[in-house]
Amino acid sequence: MRLRQTVSRHAVSRDSYARINPITAPIPADRQGAKRHYGVHPYFTRRPYNVVRDYILRYSRERDVVLDPFGGSGVTAIEAFLENRIGIQNDINPLANFLAASIAGLEKGRLEEYKQSLDFVQARSGELLGKAQTATGRRLAELQSKTMLPPDIPLPRSSDARSFHQLFSARQLLSLSILKSAIDEIPWDAGRAAMLLAWSASLAKLNKTFLSAEGRAESRGGSSIFSIYRYKVAKRPIELSPWKTFEERALNVIAAKAEIDKQIEVKRKTGGWFGKFDCRAKDVQELAEELNCAVDYIFTDPPYGAHISYLDLSTLWNNWLDMTPSVRTRERELIVGGELNLSEGSYVARLGESIQACMRMLRPNRWLSVVFQHWNVSYFEAILGAAADSGGELRAAVSQVGDPIWSMHKKKSNESVLAGELILTFLNSGKKSRVNRLNGFDVGDAVQAVLSNVESDNVHGEYLFNRIVVEAWHHGAIGSLDISRTEFIDLIQRNGWQYDERQHVWTRCKKSGALFPLTG
Ligand SMILES: C[S@@+](CC[C@H](N)C(=O)[O-])C[C@H]1O[C@@H](n2cnc3c(N)ncnc32)[C@H](O)[C@@H]1O
Repeated sequence: MRLRQTVSRHAVSRDSYARINPITAPIPADRQGAKRHYGVHPYFTRRPYNVVRDYILRYSRERDVVLDPFGGSGVTAIEAFLENRIGIQNDINPLANFLAASIAGLEKGRLEEYKQSLDFVQARSGELLGKAQTATGRRLAELQSKTMLPPDIPLPRSSDARSFHQLFSARQLLSLSILKSAIDEIPWDAGRAAMLLAWSASLAKLNKTFLSAEGRAESRGGSSIFSIYRYKVAKRPIELSPWKTFEERALNVIAAKAEIDKQIEVKRKTGGWFGKFDCRAKDVQELAEELNCAVDYIFTDPPYGAHISYLDLSTLWNNWLDMTPSVRTRERELIVGGELNLSEGSYVARLGESIQACMRMLRPNRWLSVVFQHWNVSYFEAILGAAADSGGELRAAVSQVGDPIWSMHKKKSNESVLAGELILTFLNSGKKSRVNRLNGFDVGDAVQAVLSNVESDNVHGEYLFNRIVVEAWHHGAIGSLDISRTEFIDLIQRNGWQYDERQHVWTRCKKSGALFPLTG
C-alpha cells in the first residue's frame, strides 16, 4: 500500500515536529473505557487505550504514519487509525495480528449484518450443541469423529497438560468445533470475521485453564494463561455453557462495532474520515528494511525479558486458527527463555538492535515512545544506549504509576514487584551521543535526593526506581548502576519510608529526613 497520502493538506515543516512539547506527566489509565479493547478478546499487557491515544495525538498529525512494531493486540494502530492516521500494526505473533486486524475490521459491514450473523450461528449450531451437552461416552466420541479438530500438538514444558487436546474436555472440543463450523458458513464477510473474533475470545473460557473468580458468578474469571502466564489446569475445571460464553463475547464484539461506527461517524461530520489500518508480520529488524525512514511516530511496548513467552502462550489460539508460527519466527521472538530457551545475552543485544531499527524507520525530527519496566538496569541501558547511538535524544521519561489494577504477582509480592511502566520518549534529532560508561554514581545519594524532593507523604516504588535509572543515564553512569531489588528496598527504608501493602505505595514515617539503620 502507499504509505503517504496527499501530503499537501498538512504540509508541516520538519521543525514543527521538533518543537512539540513532550508529555511529562503520567496520564491516569482508563482500562475499561473502550469497548473495542476491553471485553472483546484478552491479550497480554494491553496498554490503556487513552494513554496511547494521547501520545499519538501529541506526537503525530492527521494522515501521518504511526507504527507499533511490537503491536500486540493492536491498541496503537487501532487508535491511530481511528484518529485519522495510517496505523501500522506489526507483531510476529499471529494471534496478535489476528486480534488487531479483526478489531480494526469491525469498521466494515453494517451493524445489522453482525446481529444477523449471531442469529445465523445460533440457528446453525443450536441442535448439535444441544446434543453435545447431553451426550456421554461413545455417543460423544461418535459426534466428535464427525467434526474437524485442531492437531494434538505438544504443549510447552511448563504446562500441566502434555498435549493440546488435554487442555479441553471432550465436550468442550466438540462444542468449539461445532461453533466454528457454523461461523465458517456465515454468508456476510464482515459478520463472519467478527463472529470468529468472538469465538476466539470464548476459547479463553472454554478450556481447562479457566479459573473462576472467587466469590463471583462462575463465569467471571479468566484463564491462567493471562494471570500466571502458563497452562495451569484448574483443580476442579469449570465447564461453562459454550453457547452462553460465545454469545456473551459476540455481544461484546457487536458493541465494539457500534462504538467504532459512532467514532467514525463523528469524524465524518467533523472534518472527514480518512484513517487507514495496515498489518505486518515481521521481526522488528526485518520490518526496518521495508519501512526505512517512512514513519512519523512510533509508540511501542517491547517484551520485558523473561516475563511472558507470547508465542508459547498463544498456542491455544494459533493452533485452533491454523496459524502456527514457524521455528524461524519462534527463534526471532524477543524474549528470555520460553520453549526455545532463548538466552538473556541475545535478548539484550536484540533489544538494542530493535530500538535502532525503530530509529531507522522514523523520519528525521520525529518521535519514538518506548514503554518498558524491569528491575534489570542493563535492559534500560540497552534501550537508552541504542537510541542515543542512533541519534535519538531522550526528551521525556514518564512513570505511568498508580494503576488501580494490580497484577496477581504485585498483590502477592508487593514491594519487590514492579507494576506500572516507564514511557521513554526520544526525538530523532540525528545528533548521536556517545555514552560514557565509566562514570561513578552513588545510588544511595540519588535515592536520598529523589526522596527529599518528594512533596507528598506517599510515593510509588516504581516512580523512584525509574527516576534513579534516568538520573544514572543523565550522569552517563547507567553502565555502573547495579542494584538489586532488596538493596533498593533497604535504601528506601533507611531514608525513613515504609511500604503500605494495601495501597502499594511507600509512605513517609514521622522521623522523615533522618537516615534509618539497615534492618536485619
Ligand atoms: C508487551 S507486548 C505488546 C502489547 C501491546 N502493547 C498491547 O497493547 O497489546 C510485546 C509484543 O511483542 C511481540 N514480539 C516479540 N518479539 C517480537 C519480534 N522480534 N518482532 C515483532 N514482535 C515481537 C510479542 O508477540 C508481543 O505481542
